[in-house]
Amino acid sequence: MNQIQIFSAPNAAAVGKIAAEMIVAAVNAKRDAVLGLATGSTPLPLYGELVKAYRAGEVSFRGIRTVNLDEYVGLSETHEQSYRYFMNENLFKQIDIDLSNTFVPNGTAADSAAACDAYEARIEALGGIDLQLLGIGLNGHIGFNEPADTFSKRTHVVELTESTREANKRFFASIDNVPTQAITMGIGTIFAAKKLVLVCTGEKKAEILKRSLTGDVDPRVPASILQFHPDVTVFADEAALKLI
Ligand code: PGA
Repeated sequence: MNQIQIFSAPNAAAVGKIAAEMIVAAVNAKRDAVLGLATGSTPLPLYGELVKAYRAGEVSFRGIRTVNLDEYVGLSETHEQSYRYFMNENLFKQIDIDLSNTFVPNGTAADSAAACDAYEARIEALGGIDLQLLGIGLNGHIGFNEPADTFSKRTHVVELTESTREANKRFFASIDNVPTQAITMGIGTIFAAKKLVLVCTGEKKAEILKRSLTGDVDPRVPASILQFHPDVTVFADEAALKLI
């Protein structure tokens, strides 16, 4: 089992700060790095810090390429709940990245399976992912890899679980508006990244964080696969770490 580095911070804002320092250092060390990015509430403070660092002249994203973990099926990039929209608004429009170097799975492709294959080919053409940022779902999902009998391999279409749709309904008018499917990088795609960075905050995540980092490696807890990866850093607040 590999040693997972865990950094603790007092609260979500402080987690964003220390995680951003690692991303800024990675970007400054490799100007054309491929960053795997994530959506959700947890990475928001981190993205705020990246914008701050850019504005302060501490970092430039001009040569950086990005690939996002996942996207809802059926939501276009102008839909406010699409992950492409989230990334544009919360990060890309506020830094000097070239938008044509940013990639999110295509949720509106007529042929979703072909879109998944194209996304894998894209990641390969970029030379693979240097650093993949991850959040974790209450059920242990990473990307939209939901608990399953086996670890998924590559980018694929998933049916979202009721628990995930329930957790995400806060962003939609009602649960009926939450998409039922998404395109997500597979566990294999994520695992192939050179470095994994997990951000996790809040007491409600304490139980799943503990199971993921210290329990059995089991596809029913998708994030548990992190225990087998050679380079994992976790940034979490004290509430999320309270059981570890
Ligand atoms: P959250 O989502 O950051 O909004 O809690 C994390 C996830 O579901 O991966």
